[in-house]
Amino acid sequence: MAYLKKYLLPIFVLFLAYYFYSANEEFRPEMLQGKKVIVTGASMGIGEAMAYQLAKMGAHVVVTARSKENLKKVVAHCLELGAASANYIAGTMEDMTFAEQVVVKAGKLMGGLDMLILNHIHKTPMTLFANDIHLVRRSMEVNFLSYVTMSVAALPMLKQSNGSLVVVSSTAGKIPFPLIAAYAASKFALDGFFSSIRKEYSVTKVNVSITLCVIGLINTDSAMNAISGIIDLQEASPKEECALEIIKGGALRQEEIYYGNSLWTILLLGNPGRKILEYLTLRSYNMDKFINN
Ligand SMILES: NC(=O)c1ccc[n+]([C@@H]2O[C@H](COP(=O)([O-])OP(=O)(O)OC[C@H]3O[C@@H](n4cnc5c(N)ncnc54)[C@H](OP(=O)(O)O)[C@@H]3O)[C@@H](O)[C@H]2O)c1
Ligand SMILES: *[C@@H]1O[C@H](CO)[C@@H](O)[C@H](O)[C@H]1NC(C)=O
Ligand SMILES: *[C@@H]1O[C@H](CO)[C@@H](O)[C@H](O)[C@H]1NC(C)=O
Repeated sequence: MAYLKKYLLPIFVLFLAYYFYSANEEFRPEMLQGKKVIVTGASMGIGEAMAYQLAKMGAHVVVTARSKENLKKVVAHCLELGAASANYIAGTMEDMTFAEQVVVKAGKLMGGLDMLILNHIHKTPMTLFANDIHLVRRSMEVNFLSYVTMSVAALPMLKQSNGSLVVVSSTAGKIPFPLIAAYAASKFALDGFFSSIRKEYSVTKVNVSITLCVIGLINTDSAMNAISGIIDLQEASPKEECALEIIKGGALRQEEIYYGNSLWTILLLGNPGRKILEYLTLRSYNMDKFINN
């Protein structure tokens, strides 16, 4: 009972305050006007849709993916839609030197960085895990390690701008599903890594927000092809709206956003158990020795 009073009650009040506060903030497209944004995996799908949303809001965009031809078209359309500037850098995120260089070059092109949107993924078919360790390594490199590499390269610029890191994950990065073990591993890893450094930023007063996007089924060509004949009767949400919700989440500096999930999924994934344990665990840490100046 004493425990309940000491911990649970204050935590509950904190949650209420937090939800009340975050619900009060309102998104305005002007928030992105003139902002400098990198979008990865932007040659098609949700990434392409994000580039167009940002362009309409008058942002500077640098898009990246492997296919140069697609990126050229995306850049041209961004300029038509009103982007403050639009450029592309083509290459593969299997190469960590490229991942780092994209950030450096984009920073030079735009003169800084306000938002890094990490969205690309290695294409994976839905199938039983058949001892394909190569696929696991590739998925971890492209879907996880390159995200870490890019965020490391971007951090100095993001610190300067009080900027935002936006990490596109999946419902499959919160709940295990069959047939996508390698993909799931990389998406769970994103939660582990980025939710962990979010705690460090909060303690060490690094004012860079981290938004983890928990996305359900979206109507991109890749996703529709991947599930075809395997998952039926699934309603896919529109990629344009998904793109907008991801950008909103980043601009409002939210820790997590949920899009394209059922109400039940969102309610159950709210996971108060995890939040309470996070809070209680941190209390027993002596973080002072890690705080400089
Ligand atoms: N669609 C869904 O139902 C769904 C559901 C949950 C989460 N998500 C998440 O949403 C994000 C986007 O998904 P999407 O459906 O829009 O995917 P998509 O249409 O397949 O687009 C993937 C993007 O990644 C790029 N890419 C692939 N391999 C790459 C590599 N080695 N190096 C650099 N870029 C590479 C692709 O361009 P190139 O081929 O030109 O390189 C493309 O631009 C992903 O993080 C995904 O996990 C999607
Ligand atoms: C970043 O935030 C700090 C503290 O709120 C503020 O003093 C500073 O001017 C901000 N910098 C930018 C570029 O917004
Ligand atoms: C962090 O940056 C945001 C965006 O510039 C700003 O609104 C906020 O006041 C800053 N917070 C702190 C604690 O500096």
